[in-house]
Amino acid sequence: MDNTTHKPTEAWKRTHYCGELRPAHDGQDVVLMGWVHKSRDMGHLLFIDLRDREGLVQIVIRSEKAALIEEAKKLRTEYVIGVKGTVRPREAKNRDLATGEIEVEAKEMRLFAVSKVPPFAVADPAQASEELRFKYRYIDLRRPAMQRNIRLRHEAALRVRNFMSRHGFFEIETPFLINSTPEGARDYLVPSRIYKGRFYALPQSPQIFKQTLMISGFDRYFQIVRCFRDEDLRADRQPEFTQIDVEMSFIDREELFELIEGLMAVLFELVGEKLSPPFPRLTYAEAMERYGSDKPDLRIPLEMKDLTAVAAGLGSDIIKTVLAAGGELKGLLVPKAAGQSRAQLDKLGEKAKSLGAKGLFWIKKQDGFKSTLKLAPGELEAIWSALGGGEGDLALMIADKKKIALKALGEIRRTWPQEQSGKRLFKFAWLTDFPLMEWSGEDNRLVSMHHPFTSPLDEDVEYLEKETARVRAKAYDLILNGVEVGGGSIRIHDMELQRRIFNVLGLTPKEIEEKFGYFIEALGYGAPPHGGIALGFDRLVMLLAGEESIREVIPFPKTTSALCLMTNSPSVVSERQLAELGLKLKA
Ligand code: AMO
Repeated sequence: MDNTTHKPTEAWKRTHYCGELRPAHDGQDVVLMGWVHKSRDMGHLLFIDLRDREGLVQIVIRSEKAALIEEAKKLRTEYVIGVKGTVRPREAKNRDLATGEIEVEAKEMRLFAVSKVPPFAVADPAQASEELRFKYRYIDLRRPAMQRNIRLRHEAALRVRNFMSRHGFFEIETPFLINSTPEGARDYLVPSRIYKGRFYALPQSPQIFKQTLMISGFDRYFQIVRCFRDEDLRADRQPEFTQIDVEMSFIDREELFELIEGLMAVLFELVGEKLSPPFPRLTYAEAMERYGSDKPDLRIPLEMKDLTAVAAGLGSDIIKTVLAAGGELKGLLVPKAAGQSRAQLDKLGEKAKSLGAKGLFWIKKQDGFKSTLKLAPGELEAIWSALGGGEGDLALMIADKKKIALKALGEIRRTWPQEQSGKRLFKFAWLTDFPLMEWSGEDNRLVSMHHPFTSPLDEDVEYLEKETARVRAKAYDLILNGVEVGGGSIRIHDMELQRRIFNVLGLTPKEIEEKFGYFIEALGYGAPPHGGIALGFDRLVMLLAGEESIREVIPFPKTTSALCLMTNSPSVVSERQLAELGLKLKA
């Protein structure tokens, strides 16, 4: 090896990836290229762990190759080298390594690039803060866990494309520079240079275009597509994220559910999971009653029960007051949890209060009843039998306005530790019949719970103007382990109904015209009945990979404050660029 760096193409051609070598390659001459993961100088012998995307292999340089050993001594971690050598069985086998039964005896070596001392080791789990990892993402991505995640993402995307194509879907691109369409979040705006004072918006989703494609007769559309939303970020939210976007004509909800269940089965095979569709279906109202959430984590085997009927006969003044004010009593039975200490239960009480509830009652049965409620034994027995409680169980209860009681108890349920089964569980559910609209305190008006193109249930259409709150939608979410992995609906394909919805949402004819003019018109040219869904691709890959954040499965993610620490975006732009766009920044 000389000191000048080489181009890999100069006469050397890689024959294998490091990580793919096995005992079957014994005796073969190979050419490997990769990064120096580690080197150990034993004096008469020198070992290098050489790494590429497929894994590590041990390179050995023996004492006969004195010159080579001298050169190899100069190697540091993350140097990029090429090695020509012969595969040999290894004396001390390493069972933890896929290539651990062999090594490569080096004959020649080439240095392609040196490396500065990396800011952190290329090793799992990550040994640096997220800030440092994101700043040096190119190094972070070298870690085996990240290589595995990004590969899994590729394999998942490939399966989606194959599956959808096999089921008659075309992948059709839709524009990124569009008009602002309302989907609930803020738009990212792009100023137009040619039309000063006018803006494109980056799509929050291709919603209106995919519906237009149905009007154009494509019948089955899908797209793995980037979406942009300027909203508060969390572990499962990024400002730009990827959807598997789907739309179909002439279908009902069940056909779509079946298709998506099939797609999930094919995706989860990637991690050796055999799903068994159909997934449970729950209405929004049921989910709220039983789990206090519209994205219940069904891995937690606890359900809430309504105890209002039992409560009506109880001698407790607090409960009487709540019921008299129209409130309800909700209970959650936790089997075999009577051992919870006073302090633990007090903590849950504090939690309930922080969620807006007045407090939390509990009953335990452990050699007789113990309870925060001062009730006669017969009354405790009545609650206990309504909950189906047994010896050693614990019941948690909240008496409050229905919404508050459900939410607070649901939150306590959600954080209840899951049983350790030793196996990863994947619990899907379809949530259906969401309310069509909800009141937005922030905007002080009715807003669509999903989006304004969602069809109301046929039997609820008559209440659209009179009793809007009771109108349910043909909308559905796909939930996995408490994460919303998808959402969609059967759409309105009738121009007049679409206008009525816009009216109820309080849009003026001028606003309707400006925002959706062409689309309303298009609905008047023969729109087929249609519906669809969009799945959060990052969230699905996160769950497949067993990660806690979608940032772990996105190659170049943004921080929770929407920064890219590697490229430093967003960044300031020059006065000239602003002037070209006809923009001036406020001081
Ligand atoms: P929705 O807004 O429910 O529906 O989005 C669909 C799915 O996209 C994922 N998702 C996100 N993932 C990461 N970061 C984000 N900021 C983010 N926002 C949403 C979620 C969600 O379930 N046009 C409709 C779909 C339709 O009606 O067909 C839509 O976009 O997993």
